[in-house]
Amino acid sequence: MTDALIIGGGSGMGLALARTLLAEGMDVTIVGRSTDRLSAARAELERTTQGKVGTIRADIGREEEVAALFARVERAEHVVVTAMDASGAYGRTADVTSATARAVVDTKLLGAWLVGKHAAGRVTGSITYTSGINAYRPNGSNTIVAAANGALTALTYGLAIELAPVRVNVISPGWVDTPVWDQLAMDKQAAFAELAGRLPARRIGTPDDIAQAFVSVMRNGFITGTVLHVDGGHRLT
Ligand SMILES: NC(=O)c1ccc[n+]([C@@H]2O[C@H](COP(=O)([O-])OP(=O)(O)OC[C@H]3O[C@@H](n4cnc5c(N)ncnc54)[C@H](OP(=O)(O)O)[C@@H]3O)[C@@H](O)[C@H]2O)c1
Repeated sequence: MTDALIIGGGSGMGLALARTLLAEGMDVTIVGRSTDRLSAARAELERTTQGKVGTIRADIGREEEVAALFARVERAEHVVVTAMDASGAYGRTADVTSATARAVVDTKLLGAWLVGKHAAGRVTGSITYTSGINAYRPNGSNTIVAAANGALTALTYGLAIELAPVRVNVISPGWVDTPVWDQLAMDKQAAFAELAGRLPARRIGTPDDIAQAFVSVMRNGFITGTVLHVDGGHRLT
């Protein structure tokens, strides 16, 4: 039993959400593939907060691991999914291997579907997925990720009907400074500065911006079947 199960909670936005919920006294369980990353995240969380932090190793792309995860947790009030491995997925379509494209779909889309399948009957409050701005503002270097993010909206709508009264939503972040950017061969600071100058919010997002959005969607009992854009106005640029 856990108050919040965060799949992808070992870093970035998921870790920021774990920190926020623990500070409010909730029990949190973070999930990812690397036990080292999970242990480091738990140590950091336990240094700064009082709440109970659980860790479970699971790959969201593998059904037997997702089934075992929910069997072990038994019950969760809220489930949040931030898991995504973007290795090799950014680049022109001609340069991305089909194995990489399948891996993106397996984790981001089918992984989300597996969570809906195995959370059914075990989650009592809400499921919140994470898509991304590239579904709405593709830039020619992330087409398969954009496609998986776009499909998450339709999955969310379907599950919001199917799993009701459990609420199912998706947050679509804009650019947020997290470890995911370290996998990309680019000058991150220059790219951030260029985009920040064009965004209505005049800055790049922080993991806490997204954590606060997760919290509002989790807490508001009248939000379901919704895409919440938390992108500093990126869609308008
Ligand atoms: N940062 C941005 O600018 C941005 C913008 C738009 C959308 N997003 C989306 O926001 C979400 C969170 O990203 P982030 O920026 O917080 O990235 P992040 O720091 O890289 O976090 C992703 C987490 O997911 C875990 N993970 C990856 N593959 C997994 C799998 N197959 N099964 C279970 N866990 C897995 C990783 O841990 P392990 O490697 O240990 O498994 C990692 O802790 C992602 O879905 C991303 O696409 C990010």
